[in-house]
Amino acid sequence: MTILVTGGAGFIGSNFVLDWLAAVGERVINLDALTYAGNLHNLEAIAGDTRHVFVHGDIGDRALLDRLLAEYRPRAVLNFAAESHVDRSIHGPGDFMRTNVLGTFTLLEAVRGFWSGLDDAAKAAFRFQHVSTDEVYGSLAPGAPAFTEAHAYEPNSPYAASKAASDHLVRAWHHTYGLPVLTTHGSNNYGPFHFPEKLIPLVIVNALAGKPLPVYGDGQQVRDWLYVRDHASALRAVLAGGRIGETYNIGGWNEMTNLEIVHTICALLDELRPDPAGAYRRLIAHVADRPGHDRRCAIDARKIERQLGWRPAETFESGIRKTVQWLLDHPDWVANVQRGSYRDWVAMNYNAR
Ligand code: NAD
Ligand code: TYD
Repeated sequence: MTILVTGGAGFIGSNFVLDWLAAVGERVINLDALTYAGNLHNLEAIAGDTRHVFVHGDIGDRALLDRLLAEYRPRAVLNFAAESHVDRSIHGPGDFMRTNVLGTFTLLEAVRGFWSGLDDAAKAAFRFQHVSTDEVYGSLAPGAPAFTEAHAYEPNSPYAASKAASDHLVRAWHHTYGLPVLTTHGSNNYGPFHFPEKLIPLVIVNALAGKPLPVYGDGQQVRDWLYVRDHASALRAVLAGGRIGETYNIGGWNEMTNLEIVHTICALLDELRPDPAGAYRRLIAHVADRPGHDRRCAIDARKIERQLGWRPAETFESGIRKTVQWLLDHPDWVANVQRGSYRDWVAMNYNAR
């Protein structure tokens, strides 16, 4: 048995691949274009493991997809590959349209071609699983009920709009062609291998370097936070038992403001790596807000619990402690990802704020 994973050198994809090989053990073909966000160091723990086959390539490359599907004949395809950072989508939405929309379209077409040629039993057993985000639902008023799977699509950023578009393609390929699809909506992930352009790892690495901790606007925006290994186990549960054509929210039951997140990280660092210059909170700097910033995202993850018995294993307290400790323990990983284009990004996003 084999699965094909796209984007498996990124943050969530690499955690999924590591979790999959440990928990299931089936062979994984890992197709990744190695953009700035793709990092083979994330997969060092499985170097030399013959159950993992890494392929450097793009989900927009139809000929490559056809070749991989024909050669490895996966029983499932899980699509993680995407441009994933909202701020980058504001500065340059083109790559988001290319990978998230056109790339997903090309992947769906290649998978449809492969799937159509399977015998009836293999066709029925096959799954195309699309890894999406809660950001397609937009923003909630304070006190409004959390997003359920029935919530309207109201994407607000170019990133969210591109993911929403890809979700619609996946849905249509099921309704029109019968492709057996599953779509998941994860909330904000955090954990090992998180690229330090996103809030949590950025705040940790900046604090350790004595740099400002940039909080957009008043810092009262709310997100739900999901430990990445919990996301991986949820994706396994959906693949194993999710109902074809349905969507599943995956959340951590941890609604917090950004300022609460930053304060929690500062307090943990004060404990684990005290700075003689003073408490890390002194580095907090409120900077200009993100245009179109979603005020509140909160996810109702009761459906996946009811249908598939999945709940997150980590609380925010346990997950954030593991995350801070992981970054403290992996200074080489941090130094490696902070080279070159990372510095250009930090200068572009923060110097003008
Ligand atoms: P990431 O940016 O860390 O990784 C994306 C990976 O996809 C990288 O390895 C990159 O090289 C690869 N990639 C990009 N374009 C590609 C292309 N055209 N062809 C092949 N590979 C390509 O992203 P992530 O945070 O790991 O997110 C993974 C998926 O999960 C995305 O689809 C994202 O929308 C979704 N998601 C993310 C979060 C989150 O909090 N990070 C939450 C919910 C859902
Ligand atoms: P981010 O990690 O970029 O995830 P997303 O935009 O997909 O939710 O941002 C999480 C929250 O943190 C979001 O409300 C924006 C905010 N944020 C800051 O306040 N400062 C920062 O430097 C970054 C990157 C994000």
